[in-house]
Amino acid sequence: MLAIVGGSGLTQLANLDVSHRQVVRTPFGEPSGPLVLGTIAEREVVFIARHGYGHTIPPHRVNYRANIWALKDVGASKIVSVASVGGIRADLLPGTLVVPNQIIDYTWGRKSTFHDVENEPVVHIDFTEPYDADLRTKLLVAAGSAGQTVVDGGVYATTQGPRLETAAEIDRLERDGADIVGMTGMPEAALARELGLPYAAIAVVANCAAGRADSAHGIHLDTIETTLQAAMGRVRRLLEQLCRGESA
Ligand code: HPA
Repeated sequence: MLAIVGGSGLTQLANLDVSHRQVVRTPFGEPSGPLVLGTIAEREVVFIARHGYGHTIPPHRVNYRANIWALKDVGASKIVSVASVGGIRADLLPGTLVVPNQIIDYTWGRKSTFHDVENEPVVHIDFTEPYDADLRTKLLVAAGSAGQTVVDGGVYATTQGPRLETAAEIDRLERDGADIVGMTGMPEAALARELGLPYAAIAVVANCAAGRADSAHGIHLDTIETTLQAAMGRVRRLLEQLCRGESA
């Protein structure tokens, strides 16, 4: 079963034919809310809104472990994450969809592993390629079939938030090689890898990053919502096509 983790702007999936909601308890605490199960294009899907259904959980307080654990617990076999980001690279303007291929993690203090107990063997995961190649390809193919332009590849810098970055921080992220910046890419991707769940992301550029282009003198928070709303319609179509392709 495909799992979809919705971010800012995607607290529900209009095209999800809901069968039921399920409250899941995990050894790591409470997920962001009940899981929503149903079908898209006749394919079974489970959905969770990362920030809660009323968008009340900030990025640094999301219980990423509980969310990923709960999705696996109800039978998810792969995860597509939807996340809003700022565009650092000049061509990644608001409204652009990116399927990133790399991550740099600048977060701190988040519970970032399931293997956090004393007196058990240390567990490392290979994370050279943080996103699953096959699932990324499926997203790119689905985008093509759905007539949606997406950018193939990009380095996603995950910052701690919830504040946005300074212009100097964005300059630094660019020097580090980052193309987009968001607050939720990690530890989600690593936790999925720990549980052996293929994971890929659709990053929706909500704004130019701090100090860049439209955001040269500040980020216009009021326009972010409108940009996201427009872009999420395209994300829904892409996800629907993904489900169609998968059930074929
Ligand atoms: N920075 C970090 N996270 C974000 C941004 C940004 O500019 N836009 C949307 N999420």
